[in-house]
Amino acid sequence: MIILGIDTSCDDTCIAILEIENCKFKILSNIVSSQVKLHAKYGGVYPMLAKREHQKNLPIVLKETAKKINLSKIDYIAVTFGPGLEPCLWAGINFAQELSEKLKKPIIPINHIEGHIVANWLSPINEKPETRNPKPEIKFPAICLVVSGGHTEIILMKDIGKYTPGDILPSFKYKLIGGTRDDAAGECFDKVARILGLGYPGGPAIAEFAQRWKSEARNPKSQIKLPRPMINQKNYDFSFSGLKTAVLYQVKSTGSKAKNKKYIEEMCAETQQAIIDVLIHKTIKAAKDYRVKLIILGGGVAANEELRKQLRERIKKGIPNTKYLIPDTKYCTDNAAMIAAVAGLNPAKPIKNLKEIKADGNLQI
Ligand code: KG4
Ligand code: ZN
Repeated sequence: MIILGIDTSCDDTCIAILEIENCKFKILSNIVSSQVKLHAKYGGVYPMLAKREHQKNLPIVLKETAKKINLSKIDYIAVTFGPGLEPCLWAGINFAQELSEKLKKPIIPINHIEGHIVANWLSPINEKPETRNPKPEIKFPAICLVVSGGHTEIILMKDIGKYTPGDILPSFKYKLIGGTRDDAAGECFDKVARILGLGYPGGPAIAEFAQRWKSEARNPKSQIKLPRPMINQKNYDFSFSGLKTAVLYQVKSTGSKAKNKKYIEEMCAETQQAIIDVLIHKTIKAAKDYRVKLIILGGGVAANEELRKQLRERIKKGIPNTKYLIPDTKYCTDNAAMIAAVAGLNPAKPIKNLKEIKADGNLQI
């Protein structure tokens, strides 16, 4: 089975083609056309500007894709319908509908968050002979930490979804047990980077400066102290807007010294560590409370090397019998291969009436 995936939920125009055979995913094409340069000027994403870019880029990316594989060979079109920026989601949905009519192929609407979770099974595909197989690897209950520019969620996977005839891979059942009350973790990285004048997207820039602090500082213990919001609360919720405000106050009170390279590196290291501390603490707490057998990481912030390393260490030390899945860094940030992969989990329910698909910016898992 061959699936074409489309994702335009934020500022990346993504089209991928995935082949699924015997529970194995093979990526035939995976193009991400980034709008980063355009939005960098503004320090964030402007939805209407992003939508216009998607409309311009989608035909170009499809043309590139068609050079690699004959589009008449595809069986389904998978498109993200939420959550995300609604004008951007509509650009992808409208494009998918036109393509569906042209190629006479059914559409499967996909939840972007599920894409970030399923990205874990894309990892070793073309690199290693053995491919990750969701059936034996999934152990229940499991929890997922999805951390991106728009979301910070802890999701419980209690069970496998019901098999329906035609399913090739298992579909999963999810329950949201925690989320952010204000800013998402990625948003916090982006906003702090903006305060420090490091550009957009902020996550990779902060990670780079933090790494310099760690490798160059004589005393890597930071003198700057930032809060760990909600870390001791008994729920699985997050709040990162106070952290960003704390950085802003500290920078203002530091005056011109805040422009100093060493100060910026130290602030990046402390911001990154504050975010990581809260994310890991709540994830381990949820894992213990629900006695999970598996922890799954996903989303753009999952590309953060320190988060990956520290999560791995904390699981091994604190709950060594718990397995974990951390996606390949190249599939952490938005891509359409993960969207096609979700469709591969349950191709039994394509939408026949194209008008049924509506963008839902606040779609929940
Ligand atoms: O999943 P994603 O590509 O888009 C959304 O669905 O939001 O995530 C983008 C977010 C941005 O906020 C970006 O700053 C963050 O992921 N990010 C990182 C890193 N790479 C991307 N955050 C921390 N460390 C990174 N290495
Ligand atoms: Zn995303």
